[in-house]
Amino acid sequence: SANAMWGGRFASGPDAIMQAINASIGFDQRLYAQDIAGSRAHAAMLAAQGILSSSDAEAIREGLLTVLSEIETGAFEFRVDQEDIHMAVESRLTQIIGEAGKRLHTGRSRNDQVAVDFRLWVRDQCDAAIAGLTALMRAFVVQAEAGADWIMPGFTHLQTAQPVTWGHHMMAYVEMLARDRSRFEDARRRMNECPLGAAALAGTGFPIDRHMTAAELGFDRPTANSLDSVSDRDFALEFLSAASICAMHLSRFAEELVIWSSAQFRFVRLSDKWTTGSSIMPQKKNPDAAELLRAKIGRILGAQVALLTVMKGLPLTYSKDMQEDKEQVFDAADTLMLGLAAMTGMVSDMQAQVDTLRAAATSGFSTATDLADWLVRELGLPFREAHHVTGTLVAMAERKGCDLPELTMGEMHSVHPGINQSVYSVLGVENSVNSRQSYGGTSPVQVKAQISRWKALLG
Ligand code: ARG
Repeated sequence: SANAMWGGRFASGPDAIMQAINASIGFDQRLYAQDIAGSRAHAAMLAAQGILSSSDAEAIREGLLTVLSEIETGAFEFRVDQEDIHMAVESRLTQIIGEAGKRLHTGRSRNDQVAVDFRLWVRDQCDAAIAGLTALMRAFVVQAEAGADWIMPGFTHLQTAQPVTWGHHMMAYVEMLARDRSRFEDARRRMNECPLGAAALAGTGFPIDRHMTAAELGFDRPTANSLDSVSDRDFALEFLSAASICAMHLSRFAEELVIWSSAQFRFVRLSDKWTTGSSIMPQKKNPDAAELLRAKIGRILGAQVALLTVMKGLPLTYSKDMQEDKEQVFDAADTLMLGLAAMTGMVSDMQAQVDTLRAAATSGFSTATDLADWLVRELGLPFREAHHVTGTLVAMAERKGCDLPELTMGEMHSVHPGINQSVYSVLGVENSVNSRQSYGGTSPVQVKAQISRWKALLG
C-alpha cells in the first residue's frame, strides 16, 4: 500500500529492495532523543506563535513524552516501512493522540529535522570526546608525576638519540591531547547554530520564531541561510577531522606500548586487565588492547574520507546521499570513545620498568651530543668540528665494544689532544638530562614545571 506520509501521489508502495536501500530506521533510531527534543521545541514554538492551538501543542507534548518512554523501555516497535526515525516518531505520535499529531510537521521538513537531530547528536559527541580526553590527559599527568626524573632513551628514527625523562615523554602526549581537545571545543562552538526552521530548503511562509527553537535546544543562534542549513554537513566533517587527528595520536601511543612491552624493550609492563595470553605459548602476554586500538583507528580515518566523498559531488541542497552520513559518524564516534576509554585504562595501569629504562638510556652512545657540546664549551671547537671529533670517538668505542665513558684518556687524546679528565662528568645520563634546562626541555626541573602547569589547568 502507498505511504501514509506521501501516499497521495503514489499508487503503490515501494519494492522490498527499495525499502532495504532507502530505509535508515535501522541506524538512525539512535537519534530518537534528539528527534523528540526537536519536535517538542518546534511544537512549543508553533503554539507560542499562534500557528498551533495550545490544546494541540499540549497533546503533542504529552504524546511525544509517551513515545520517548516507549522507546526507552523497549516497547516501541521500529518498522522498516516507516523509513526513518522522523517518520517512526511522528506516526506513533499520531496513533496515540490522533489529529493533533498530523499538525506537528507544519512549517518543517525532514530536511531541517534531520539536520537539527544530527547536529544535536554530534554536539553531544564533542562533549563526550572532550571529557574522555580530559580523563586521558589526567592519566598521563599522573604517570609523568611519578616519573618526572626517571631516565629513558629518547628516540629519533627509533634509534637512541639522547636521554630524556619518562615524565617528559608522558607530558608530550598531554600536549597532543590538549590540542585535540581544543579542536573538539572549536568544532562544537562553530556547529552550535540551529538549522530548524529552514524547512525543506527555502524557509517557510508560516510566522515561525527560529530564535525561540534555537534557544530552546541550546544553540547560540539560528543558522543564517536556509539553503546552507539543510545541505551542510561540515559539522560532522569537523567532528571526524578532530576525531581523526586525535585517533592518530592514540594510535602512536598504542604503537609505543606495543614496542615498549615487548621482551626486547621491556620498558613497561602492561596489566593483566589490558593484555591476553596465548592458547599455545604459555609465556605470552600480548598487548591486544593497544594493537586493536592502533587498528580500529582506521575506521575513524575511513569515516572521514567516506563522508567527504559523499559530500563532495552534491549540488545544493539536500540529496538522499546525505543519509549516508550517519553510520560513518556513529561508528567513528563509538570507536573514538572506546579508544579513549581503553587508552585511559592502559595508561593508568602500565608500570614503567625504571631500571630497564635507565639501562637503555646509557647504551647507544646517547650522550654523544653532550660530549660534542663539551668540546664546544670547554675547548672552543666549532660545533661542526666537535661533531666530527665525537663521531670518531663513537666509532672507536663501537669497535672496542664499550660505551663512551669507558674510553681511556689515552684513547681520547689520540682523537683530540685537548680533551681532559672533566669530560667524563658530561658523559653520564643524569648530567645529560639535568643540563637540558631550556624552556620545554627534558630536565626534571622543566618537566615538573610542565606538570604543575597542567595540573592547575586540569583541576
Ligand atoms: N532519513 C533521511 C536522512 O537521514 C531524513 C531526511 C529525508 N529527507 C528527504 N527529503 N527524503 O537524511
